[in-house]
Amino acid sequence: MSSELSKQIEKLREEINHHDSLYYVSNKPEISDYDYDNLFSKLKELEAKHPELITTDSPTQRVSGKPIKSFNQIKHNSPMLSIDNTYNPEQLRGFDQRIRKQLEDEDIEYVVELKIDGLAMSLTYQDSILTQAATRGDGETGDDVTSNVRTIKSIPLRLNSKKTPPELLEVRGEVYMPKKSFASLNQLRSEAGENLFANPRNAAAGSLKLLDPRITASRNLSFFTYSTAEAIGNSKDHYQSLKKLKEFGLPLNPHTKKVSDIEKVIEICNSWETKRYELDYQIDGMVIKVNSFAQQEKLGTTARSPKWCISFKFPAEQATTIIESIDIQVGKTGALTPVANFKPVKLAGTVVKRASLHNFDEIKRLDIRVGDTVVVEKAGEIIPQVMRVVDGERSIFAQEFAIPTKCPECGGEVRKDKEGVSLRCNNKDCPARLKEKLIYFVARSQMDIENLGPAVIEQFVSKGLVKTFADIYKLTLFDIINLDRMGQKSAQNILEAIEKSKKRPLWRLVCALGIRHVGAQNAEVLSNAMGTLEAIMTATAEELEEIEQIGPIIAQSIANFFALEENRKMIEEMLECGVEPTIEKKKYSDSLKGKVIVATGTLENFTRESIKQTIKENGGKISSSVSKKTDFVIAGKNAGSKLEKANKLGVRVVTEEEFEDMIKDEV
Ligand code: IVH
Repeated sequence: MSSELSKQIEKLREEINHHDSLYYVSNKPEISDYDYDNLFSKLKELEAKHPELITTDSPTQRVSGKPIKSFNQIKHNSPMLSIDNTYNPEQLRGFDQRIRKQLEDEDIEYVVELKIDGLAMSLTYQDSILTQAATRGDGETGDDVTSNVRTIKSIPLRLNSKKTPPELLEVRGEVYMPKKSFASLNQLRSEAGENLFANPRNAAAGSLKLLDPRITASRNLSFFTYSTAEAIGNSKDHYQSLKKLKEFGLPLNPHTKKVSDIEKVIEICNSWETKRYELDYQIDGMVIKVNSFAQQEKLGTTARSPKWCISFKFPAEQATTIIESIDIQVGKTGALTPVANFKPVKLAGTVVKRASLHNFDEIKRLDIRVGDTVVVEKAGEIIPQVMRVVDGERSIFAQEFAIPTKCPECGGEVRKDKEGVSLRCNNKDCPARLKEKLIYFVARSQMDIENLGPAVIEQFVSKGLVKTFADIYKLTLFDIINLDRMGQKSAQNILEAIEKSKKRPLWRLVCALGIRHVGAQNAEVLSNAMGTLEAIMTATAEELEEIEQIGPIIAQSIANFFALEENRKMIEEMLECGVEPTIEKKKYSDSLKGKVIVATGTLENFTRESIKQTIKENGGKISSSVSKKTDFVIAGKNAGSKLEKANKLGVRVVTEEEFEDMIKDEV
């Protein structure tokens, strides 16, 4: 291979790493997203042509490897300790006095850091390359979550070697989920009928525990470093060491401060108690560390925590208010969700007046009644929730909330769902349900039909103009102009937007259908794997389950949806009206069309990810296990049980070269 090409690839990687660092570490991007994407595409293109030049630390290889069965355990080289807590300035002064006494009045510097509310992580860099990531676990032993952590864009896969990092470096820090990502993840989960995460920390922990790194990659996790396991080279103190980590390319929290007396520490801590709401990630306090390593050594540690470090914990902000009423909302799946309206109250930086009560069991569990004084908090500092009723302030007239026996919108019958948590309106034609389904269908993340807001949809439904998704595509200018408060121009705009939406990518249409458990992510997986709407519609639950990431519940839900005659009819009508979902995935050829292929052993010119990609791009389907349905197995070096099974079943086996020949001419 020409060394020119290797150099070009290497240069691109360095450039991308540099811009990643400017973006994620210094927060000072120098190029536009567009230019960045161009660099990235260029690298991907070169690597696709020359897979032998792909290295694991290439920025294109963040998501690689297959879903795993379980995590390996990793024993930490030195224990990952926890920190003792303080809750007020007096306790902080007490900490300072203990330190001063032990250090016999030496000068002391403190480093004050934000206490990021996430998960402690240990990252190992060997010769500047990220080789291992482990959770804290019990402090002694944690889980090997390397594949998942590699997907976190603010974590460099390779350190900036110009700054000569040590050969072996163990970095510690916090993986977290930004507040906005937490809110949108919960939004998607609620739309897909999945359980919600209580806070960003749980969401981050849940995302790292996933066995499939591709899902972790979509969770938008981030990272701040706060220490090393061993002092770096000649650095004398913590602050210097943090600065070095930053030079190496690791993200350091920009609000880290060095100060020389405890009153200044207290001032900083107090200021963050309110400023914290302006951050786009959640902090649960501050961490105060003695700066000098020599002094840290003198102070020592207990079995649980270092004596040179303390946290200052913020209380979760709460407010009390009065419940004025409880509404019931009907969602697109028919789920009835009680929502509390309360007297507006300031909480964690904004005024709040409503909170979802999630379900009727929750009302019972908290025994919430209209007129009650309640304590409210914000999950992830964003989503208001009622925590508890304040005892002793209930009016004697306060009545228990009556659980609805009929849908408040259509009077239809309500039933508990299979999981036994939500009540659902059983009337498929419930107008409230239809309205929500339509709002979801046209939304920006789905079919993106501009100008078709809830008020217009409400009129379509109440006038009986739209009863199914297909009806949207049958609307005429006359239908729209006749709505209340509708001008000719707006009506035309709506019609144009509907027309434009006919050619959205397949995954958007699949997502827009609102099938339970099928949000944007699953819709994309499904569309990429199946290729056409017809294939998705006709697949059995068993066939769908063969797709990685699609578990039995999702598969069944999809199959059930398309088994219904009315859904199939609705889709046929849509297609008749000219809806023509597009396939975003570029197919290079049809040479593997319909073929089910298993790849096993070590391949020379492909990584696991690139072989998968190549098979898909040529129309084939990759499967993880050999069965009679397998068309052929590509066997690399050291192929083991899968090759054996193929031979036993009489399945055709090809070498890597033979495989390359199959796709060559048509690329
Ligand atoms: S230092 C021995 N610094 O808080 C001290 N920890 O409650 C090691 N945390 O397990 C930790 N931000 O996960 C340190 N700036 C920070 C931190 C921080 C968050 C977490 C960390 C630790 C937990 C202790």
